[in-house]
Parts: sequence; C-alpha cells; structure tokens
Amino acid sequence: MAVDAQQVEMLEGLEQTRRRTLSLVQHLSQRDLTRVLDPIMSPLAWDLGHIAAYEDLWIGHRLGGLPLMHEELAALYDAFETPRAVRGDLEFLRGAPLTEYLDAVRERTRAVTAMHGVTDRHELVLRHELQHDETILQVLALAGLLPDGWGVPSAVAGDDGWSLVPGGTFALGADDDGFAYDNERPRHPVEVAPFRIARRPVTNATWLTFTEGGGYERRPWWSHESWMWKEEYDIGDCPRSVRTGDPDAPVAHVSWFEADAFARWAGARLPTEAEWEKAATSGQTAGIGEVWEWTASSFAGYPGFRAYPYPEYSEPFFGDRYRVLRGGSCVTHPRVASHTFRNWDLPQRRQLFAGLRLAKEA
Ligand code: AVJ
Ligand code: FE
Repeated sequence: MAVDAQQVEMLEGLEQTRRRTLSLVQHLSQRDLTRVLDPIMSPLAWDLGHIAAYEDLWIGHRLGGLPLMHEELAALYDAFETPRAVRGDLEFLRGAPLTEYLDAVRERTRAVTAMHGVTDRHELVLRHELQHDETILQVLALAGLLPDGWGVPSAVAGDDGWSLVPGGTFALGADDDGFAYDNERPRHPVEVAPFRIARRPVTNATWLTFTEGGGYERRPWWSHESWMWKEEYDIGDCPRSVRTGDPDAPVAHVSWFEADAFARWAGARLPTEAEWEKAATSGQTAGIGEVWEWTASSFAGYPGFRAYPYPEYSEPFFGDRYRVLRGGSCVTHPRVASHTFRNWDLPQRRQLFAGLRLAKEA
C-alpha cells in the first residue's frame, strides 16, 4: 500500500473510533460523566482523559519527540500510579478542557503521522481506545445507563449438543505477522487430549434452570473459594439480565466463580484456553460471539514471553489471581477480537459481558 493511503486509512480508523467513543457517552449528563458510577470502575471522564493521555504518550511524545501536552496530569492518567479505587477523588479534566485535550492530542497525532508515517504504535493506540470503549460500556451496564441498542446479547446459532475435538498438538498463539499483544506470543506447540466442547455458549434459559434449582443455595457445586465469595458478598441470585434477556441468548455478567459452579452442576467443566483456541481455530466453535467466555486457565505468559511494547500491559497480571476469557462480546469491536486474543479479569468480577461455554472429556 502506498504510504499516503496507509496514513489516510489509519487516521480514518482513529476518527471512526473517536466517533464511536463519543457516541457512547453523549447521552450522559456532566454529573454522570464525572461521578463514580460503580465503586470498582473509574469515572467515565477519567477513561476519556486516559485515552487522550495514552495517545499523546505513544504518538506525540515517544514517536514525535514532543513534550507531553499535560505533563502535570501524566501520573493521574497512568493506570498503575492511579488505580481505579482512588480515581473518583481526583481533579481529572472534565467539560470543555477535556474535549480540548482529546482534540489537541489528535491534531498532533495527525502532524506526527504525516512526518513519521504509520507505526504499530498507531494500532496500539487505536485498539487501546476500543478496549476502553468496552470498559465504558461495562460501567454503563452496571449503572443502568446503556445507550440505546448497546449491550444486550442476541441469541446465537447452534444447539445444546457437543463437538468432539480430536487430540493432538497444535500451534497456540499469534504468529509473527501483523499486530498482536505481547501475551499472545510466541506461538508455540501445545498438546491437547481429545475433548468435547459445547456448540453454543450457555443460555439465559439454562442459567435460570440452575438458579431455580437451588444453584445459589446449595453448596456441592461450589469450590471453597467460590462459596466464600458468594457468602461474603451475599450473592444469592443470578444477574438481573438472566431474567430480562432473551432466553436463547448467551448468559452474560456472570463471574468466573459462578461459571465454575454452573459447569459442575451441568456435569461438565470450563475449557482450558488451549482447548478453547483449538476448537475455535479448527472451526468447531464460532469463536467470536455475543459474550466473552471464561476459561479454566489462569493468566500466564507463554513460554518465551517478552513484554512489548511496555512491561505493564500484561506482565503485572500474570499469576494465579486472574482468569483468561476468550472470544469477544456484543460490545467488542471486530478490530480487537480474534481467536488468539486473551482477555483477563479477577474471578469475582461480574461487570464483563462474559458467560461461558462448557467442555467435558471425550
Ligand atoms: C485487556 C481489557 C484486560 O482493561 O485492563 C486498557 C486493556 N490495557 N488499558 C484492561 C487495557 C490498558 C485491559 N484488558
Ligand atoms: Fe488503558
């Protein structure tokens, strides 16, 4: 592709992304943009400023060699220096200064791109904004403030049968071509025993059967850790969307703890992420669907992992605290959804547009 066409395409992609981002919040009052809508999430104005700060850091500053536009706000908009729990009390930008910041950073991005061309940092920045769009939609779902037409999973094709996936070695992870996150590489061989995987994710209707059959009251299906969470947070019922959603749509907003208990109730288990990827890449499951799918796997670096382009993207989350989700949801932009993409969150989290697909032995 000619250099100019590549630049036009990237800048147009960034503009489309920005229009999408702003369309998600344009129905909100200034008060709803700046207050903490849910205690585990950021005020949405923080997300918007963070999107601009990330773009300015990678394009204006690091690629273009320019000083940061709001050097004094760099720490405030750094996700590690300023964790979610303290974001509510801060003097983050809001109103006209926030809009001006987003616009001014973008203006510099255009100038720097004209000078240095398109780099993989552009793709990183674009995808970062799309990732935060999903975070914003999670907050809006929790607060009952979703914009019209967003965030309600639709029924998916398939029945409650199983696909048999043969055992063998396959290549897990992204190859070396094109953009992928550090945690998707290096691609490496993994041996998987034969297994069965459900042809569609668990639906609202089936989850309701679990709930009404005493799923949240009876101990046997719950692990010790899951039961402790349920007791401590008084989780006595399924998420509201199970009852309000289409019965044939995949269940959403369930935690890993609940998904794990449900799978045991169903006489099955969660797939490992290697099983999930093998089934998706061999065409035996749809792969990208209406909800993220919790896997049995903890988030870890693949053998030979190298942090790129910065150590904080994946590495601090490796270990046994976080669980991997695969696929994508009804609010995931196709540009950030792939068969090798690894999402992750804590096992107690219910804000994700996440459900599950069952697996069992062959
Ligand atoms: C990949 C969705 C888990 O939101 O923590 C956003 C994406 N990284 N800003 C997250 C991300 C830095 C990440 N997830
Ligand atoms: Fe971020």
